[in-house]
Amino acid sequence: MEIVVRPDRQAVCDLAARLIAARLRARPALVLGLATGRTMSDIYARLVAMHRTGGLDFASAASFNLDEYIGLAPEDPRSYRAYMQAELFDHVNIDPVRTHLPSGLAADTTAEGAAYEAAIVAAGGIDLQLLGIGENGHIGFNEPGSSLASRTRDKTLSRHTRAQNAEMFGGDPAAVPARAMTMGVGTILAARELILVATGAAKAEALARAVEGPLTAMVTASAIQLHPLCLVIADEAAAGRLT
Ligand code: F6R
Repeated sequence: MEIVVRPDRQAVCDLAARLIAARLRARPALVLGLATGRTMSDIYARLVAMHRTGGLDFASAASFNLDEYIGLAPEDPRSYRAYMQAELFDHVNIDPVRTHLPSGLAADTTAEGAAYEAAIVAAGGIDLQLLGIGENGHIGFNEPGSSLASRTRDKTLSRHTRAQNAEMFGGDPAAVPARAMTMGVGTILAARELILVATGAAKAEALARAVEGPLTAMVTASAIQLHPLCLVIADEAAAGRLT
């Protein structure tokens, strides 16, 4: 694992976007694993700018997002599908057919998880997985206690995560869906390359436990220690508890 510390959030997002763009230029049919959330927005804004002004070409790329809230339709503005359309997909030339998120409306979540795994395999596997980190150390929505071998499935969200994500739900943690479909830790580890991005002091403790702590299902981000090709990009605030 390589850890790169940049002075601030802007510099972190610049580097992450430049690396993603470089991978895409080297391999136009790149299979991207994508994340949502506040950390990712600035990265996607940069990719959109590179598409508009630098011709960054998504025409042959495919994408698989980490997760989706259970109970939200794709059209729901609070869904992760809506986030991805608004932040990235609507502004670049990616083929909509090749953009994937787990369905939040599947009646059978076990079947949906299996179908999502099969779709990733059919696409040739994920080349580059982008990750944020939760304040509780989650990656995707793999909450503390998730199996490190887990695959795409439904997961109950912790109180901490619902509070962390309440902003989109009128600030009310109780309004945040209680469950989500998420790639498992095992799914994430199967990607050929990982880039984990962390910004802000609120992530410092989680990042230190992920990178320097013992490998534990209680901090699912610690599983990145097992990956042979993993880059962590943090700003100084998020890196503040690293030794
Ligand atoms: C989102 C996801 C989560 C977030 C994490 C950080 O698709 O899988 O693991 O990356 O919760 O979220 P932000 O960036 O909003 O702090």
